[in-house]
Amino acid sequence: MQINFQKLPLALKPFILSLFLSLSFLAFLSLQTPRHSLHKTTAKSTVLPSNLRIRPGYSSYDAYIEHQLNKTLNPKLRQIWTTRDWNRKVRVFSEFFENLKVRCFLSNDSKSLCVGARVGQEVAALKRVGVNDSVGIDLVPYPPLVIKGDFHHQPFDDNIFDLEFSNVFDHALYPWTFVGEIERTLKPGGICVLHVSLSGRTDKYSANDLYSVGPLKELFKVSELVEMRRIDGFGLDTEVVFRKKKK
Ligand SMILES: C[S@@+](CC[C@H](N)C(=O)[O-])C[C@H]1O[C@@H](n2cnc3c(N)ncnc32)[C@H](O)[C@@H]1O
Repeated sequence: MQINFQKLPLALKPFILSLFLSLSFLAFLSLQTPRHSLHKTTAKSTVLPSNLRIRPGYSSYDAYIEHQLNKTLNPKLRQIWTTRDWNRKVRVFSEFFENLKVRCFLSNDSKSLCVGARVGQEVAALKRVGVNDSVGIDLVPYPPLVIKGDFHHQPFDDNIFDLEFSNVFDHALYPWTFVGEIERTLKPGGICVLHVSLSGRTDKYSANDLYSVGPLKELFKVSELVEMRRIDGFGLDTEVVFRKKKK
């Protein structure tokens, strides 16, 4: 159907013209929308607590993943992580986990998940201290300790784990989804232990910067902060412990 603009009643012309301009503008805007905002792992909320900053610069979710993989897949580094670094890191992680046992946050019966575990030194440490039902997830699997999984979309059902440990909060492009997934897969009463940096530690693979524990308290929606202490954990300075509420 063709509309002859000349023949339209005078009163209708401004209306038709503004409708046409609005639709063109909307079409233009939709073409400008970055692809990553359409990714299924994006957040339900983009309002960030103060003291938590997402680093700009990723053109898409795929670009973020590719950046992370650049390091994780590096063959020379993988060789070092699985040989020279192995014993020292397993020993230090074991001390942290023994300490969690003493504080009754972890027991040999805890079904445990390490989030962002790379080659799985923390999983090996859990097993070393007697927590045998333990596994890690990372973008790159390292069987049998680490299976493939994106922490923005954990490959598990709800209410599975008694304990989740992670020292990679700073690698989350969507921290609210990172935390939401932990809360989803923890059992009610389950424990989440995060090692984070609050002192502006920079890593070019970090995707966010955290400046206080306040944002974590806001991101954990169905858990309460039960402990916080200073640590020296591979450049990370603070251990926070959250417990998922029972109801
Ligand atoms: C600093 S390393 C820490 C590795 C390990 N936790 C350790 O202490 O040795 C960060 C890890 O997070 C992983 N990672 C980054 N983004 C991820 C994502 N979206 N899902 C799962 N793992 C991710 C990287 O592949 C990398 O192995």
